[in-house]
Amino acid sequence: MKPRNIVILTGAGISAESGLATFRDKDGLWSKVRIEDVATPEAFARDPARVHAFYNARRAQLRDPAIAPNAAHLALAELNARWPGELLLVTQNVDDLHARAGSRRMVAMHGELAKVRCLACEAVQAWTDDLSTATPCPACGTAGRMRPYIVWFGEMPMQMERIGAALDACDLFVSIGTSGNVYPAAGFVAEVAGRARTLELNLEPSAGRSRFEEARHGPATRLVPEFVAGLLG
Ligand code: APR
Repeated sequence: MKPRNIVILTGAGISAESGLATFRDKDGLWSKVRIEDVATPEAFARDPARVHAFYNARRAQLRDPAIAPNAAHLALAELNARWPGELLLVTQNVDDLHARAGSRRMVAMHGELAKVRCLACEAVQAWTDDLSTATPCPACGTAGRMRPYIVWFGEMPMQMERIGAALDACDLFVSIGTSGNVYPAAGFVAEVAGRARTLELNLEPSAGRSRFEEARHGPATRLVPEFVAGLLG
């Protein structure tokens, strides 16, 4: 039976074939730098220049024309545009590839590399250049109070109420390209199990594999277009 309301969760694996490193695969980001040094509020308070350098390097990839949406991002954008029922794409990724592919019904629950937030006036603004400890806020002019618009470990993800409402209403939950290691995203499948069909599309079984009714393993650029064609077919 065709579903009506869909929630799709994506992780770093959907952007791997666009050339962006994942976090926990071999040579992943967390094999090169410690979370405690660059991805917590304490790290930023302790050494903001080091945190800025880590995100400046990742933000530079947004400006690299070789890094573009792949067939999986594009297939999800087509589903996003054409699905007649409710649909929410919840991404853990902070790259802009879903948005550039055209997905609109979307939440970037861990923030966005292409934005920054001023700790003095709280303004959030588009920003693709480097940030430093001296950068003045374009909104209020205060220097040295700019941080990446990224949800760090220990901080509350974005738009959790909207995500919770979509999970409550969904009858199909699909997880794509995530290892299922980080909460609250890793707990979404347990929230919907029993009242929604659950499907994992991933290169290999994730940590949460046993909680999914169905799993298909392989590259996202093959699995996701096939999945979308099956839904829209
Ligand atoms: N196609 C499909 N899946 C892939 C591909 C691919 N081409 N390449 C890798 N994967 C899968 C891996 O098998 C792995 O299960 O993507 C997953 C990536 O897992 P992680 O590197 O842990 O990334 P993610 O699950 O998105 O991490 C969640 O952790 O560090 C935090 O905030 C960070 O949002 C991130 C969160």
